[in-house]
Amino acid sequence: MATDLSARRADVPALHQTVRGRPLVYLDNASTTLKPQVVIDAVQRTMARECANVHRGVHALSEGATAQYEGARARVAAFLGARPAEIVFTRGTTESVNLVAQTWGRANLARGDTVVVTAMEHHSNLVPWQMLCGELGARLHVLPITDDGELVLDLPERARLVAVTHVSNVLGTINPVADICRAAHERGAVVLVDGAQAAGHLPVDVRALGCDFYALSAHKLFGPTGTGVLWGRAELLADMPEWMGGGDMVLSVTLEGATYREAPYKFEAGTPNIAGVVGLGAAADYAAGLGWEAAAAHERSLVDRATAALSAIPGVRLLGAPRRRIGIVAFTLAGAHPHDVATIVDREGIAIRSGHHCAEPLHRRLGVAASARASFAFYNTAAEVDALAAAVRLAAETFG
Ligand code: ALA
Repeated sequence: MATDLSARRADVPALHQTVRGRPLVYLDNASTTLKPQVVIDAVQRTMARECANVHRGVHALSEGATAQYEGARARVAAFLGARPAEIVFTRGTTESVNLVAQTWGRANLARGDTVVVTAMEHHSNLVPWQMLCGELGARLHVLPITDDGELVLDLPERARLVAVTHVSNVLGTINPVADICRAAHERGAVVLVDGAQAAGHLPVDVRALGCDFYALSAHKLFGPTGTGVLWGRAELLADMPEWMGGGDMVLSVTLEGATYREAPYKFEAGTPNIAGVVGLGAAADYAAGLGWEAAAAHERSLVDRATAALSAIPGVRLLGAPRRRIGIVAFTLAGAHPHDVATIVDREGIAIRSGHHCAEPLHRRLGVAASARASFAFYNTAAEVDALAAAVRLAAETFG
């Protein structure tokens, strides 16, 4: 059932501009989402008024900033079905994954252990594991995918860690994370979920998923760039060694050594991105208030419309056809480089992404070097999908 969320477009100021003399059609939401005014206001308020450091001052402004910052932790925890003490603020998904690799990974993995990833991982959830496995002498096992872009769930018996994306940033595939967690736990493995592409498109309840770590980026959840989250099960975070040393992660320091605070603070060295975190808190509240069923149904109707329209254009090949997907469609056009397609489409005021989308191995698996990608959010419309199809048809005529 298509659901009309068009009234919510008024919430998002960046939508209401012209680009190359035409009304902007923003279909690059998998790269970053546009920001609702409530998020912009929250960031602006922090910059303009509660502009003080957190956890460090007894003056009123610092207490206010701390309350906003810790309030955001509580909001994000509620958004994920978690407890505030389990929410670590990071710079984004990439840092969250690296944090787990460098702390849990170094403490728990050894030569000969198996780390499982999938063929549809973003580089952020692949390269940190390649680096660590290379250094420790651990083995990286890659779960394959079908031509439709679905995971083949054949976990090796001796996995120690499974690192899997919740949603593919290229294919839109929604992976069966709860099933993967069950199978991984039967093997005694810990599961890290890259939720960068899921948060903002699906409800995320880390306990219902049954995972051990969940990473996300604020900027794909209608929040600011440079801010993200690592959620971890409390007992795992408690046992993990500190990572970056510095201010605020310590209890006491002498010239000989230091004692450390408990999680999440032991992982938050240095002055954090305070305004970014406050913006993330506002974004989490905003996303939760959209109504997941309505937003998911709307995105599904857009992606169905896009796949039907694009596949009717001569020379277009759609990448994957997953049964459960969010609003992402990647495609190639015969005889044209995806950058050329994106350039032609851009002349019509339509923003899509072209390239390998930080998923080179996935593209290689699908037999292409790169693709063009349209990705939707709640504020996109059927008319925008039609405009995309018309622009791609123009590209097909140009290159055909
Ligand atoms: N990972 C982001 C994307 O898929 C930047 O475009």
